[in-house]
Amino acid sequence: MTAPLPSPDQIRIAVIGLGYVGLPLAAAFGKHLPTLGFDIDVDRVAELDRGHDHTLEVSEAALRGAGLLRFASDPAALEGCNVFIVTVPTPIDEYKRPDLRPLESASRTVGRALRRGGVVVYESTVYPGATEEVCVPILERESGLAFNHDFSAGYSPERINPGDHEHRLDTIMKVTSGSTPEAAEFVDSLYRRVITAGTHKTSSIRVAEGAKVIENIQRDVNIALINELALIFHRLGMDTHEVLEAAGTKWNFLPFRPGLVGGHCIGVDPYYLTHKAQQIGYHPDMILAGRRINDGMGSHVARRAIRLMSQRGKQANASKVLVMGLAFKENCPDLRNTKVVDIVNELRSFNAQVDVHDPWVSARHAHAEYGIDVIERPSPGSYDAVILAVPHREFVALGADGIRALGTPDMVLFDVKRALPRASVDGCL
Ligand SMILES: NC(=O)c1ccc[n+]([C@@H]2O[C@H](COP(=O)([O-])OP(=O)(O)OC[C@H]3O[C@@H](n4cnc5c(N)ncnc54)[C@H](O)[C@@H]3O)[C@@H](O)[C@H]2O)c1
Repeated sequence: MTAPLPSPDQIRIAVIGLGYVGLPLAAAFGKHLPTLGFDIDVDRVAELDRGHDHTLEVSEAALRGAGLLRFASDPAALEGCNVFIVTVPTPIDEYKRPDLRPLESASRTVGRALRRGGVVVYESTVYPGATEEVCVPILERESGLAFNHDFSAGYSPERINPGDHEHRLDTIMKVTSGSTPEAAEFVDSLYRRVITAGTHKTSSIRVAEGAKVIENIQRDVNIALINELALIFHRLGMDTHEVLEAAGTKWNFLPFRPGLVGGHCIGVDPYYLTHKAQQIGYHPDMILAGRRINDGMGSHVARRAIRLMSQRGKQANASKVLVMGLAFKENCPDLRNTKVVDIVNELRSFNAQVDVHDPWVSARHAHAEYGIDVIERPSPGSYDAVILAVPHREFVALGADGIRALGTPDMVLFDVKRALPRASVDGCL
């Protein structure tokens, strides 16, 4: 006998983890179904109770519009919920191995609240097998229930892109899966209620887990290739973007650009699959080579800026450098795994004096996470080099002239992502 499932009018959702992924999802479900947003971070729950989301992913109006959404940080509030959607972080540790502790801890919390007929859907990015090999045994142990007999599981990866206001939760097709055909159909129909772009149901949880992780690996490896090309073309004295533009006139040339690969997804998720691959005796050469190249780009940028300064007679240890942007990408406050830190550290290792300016990020988080004190206002006319690391819209709006006004007359302007006209800057990737 397969596990019973909640009927549509009985559904009580709990979203576990209210971050970039969990909150938009909770807000979407909270428009249609009784939904509890649960997070262990009491400050996060307090800000959401006040109707504010500091990640800027859900507007105050959208939060107000989710009339059936409540928030809690006390696990007792999960009582009565029968569909649990887990959206907690899946980071890596200092050895770049998957750190499954948040997922395990969330599974313990859910396991204690799980009753017969419940469904637990994971959204966190993992390697194929993690849901059934790691999470389900915890759910069984904590609940005392039998998998696929008393309760079901599902996996539906998230594809949102922080700061991207075009591709939103409801406009991105969602992959769904379940531990039985009935559970898969239940999970799929649940998401169809909020995803206008539609759903893609896979035959197993492992297929859905694999699909998510390879989406990010494909991007990582492709960007690594372009970064490697940028390193080669730079040595050849050629403009990488010009070469890419020319090659891009072929119909099947993919439009990737060189850059820093930060954030908690693209630079992290590949290690989930490489970990699993190594566990089963396969050493993944290509995925790890891509990771090595991408992780080296921050120090490459710093060294290029230092070389350009020294060509102008300015030694790094006597220089003052402004790094514009600390977030892992433009127009977004997300600091997680930002590779701009590598630029700053490399410059500081040469004893350069470095100021970091980013109006998007929280100065408190930047200090707590990286020991970097973000300055509120750069001092005009004082920098020997400015590195436009993250092209936030207000930086681009300054234009090269506006940025040059921050520097000395012979300053170096390095434009990491080629956001300004090539002729107006001294270097770019
Ligand atoms: N941010 C993205 O763009 C994105 C996109 C696709 C997939 N993902 C994946 O989704 C998952 C979540 O990412 P995110 O960006 O939303 O993370 P996040 O750090 O923004 O949010 C996670 C939230 O979970 C909470 N949390 C941690 N442990 C908990 C627990 N045991 N119980 C309850 N709450 C807990 C944290 O307090 C935090 O508020 C990760 O696996 C990530 O790889 C993220």
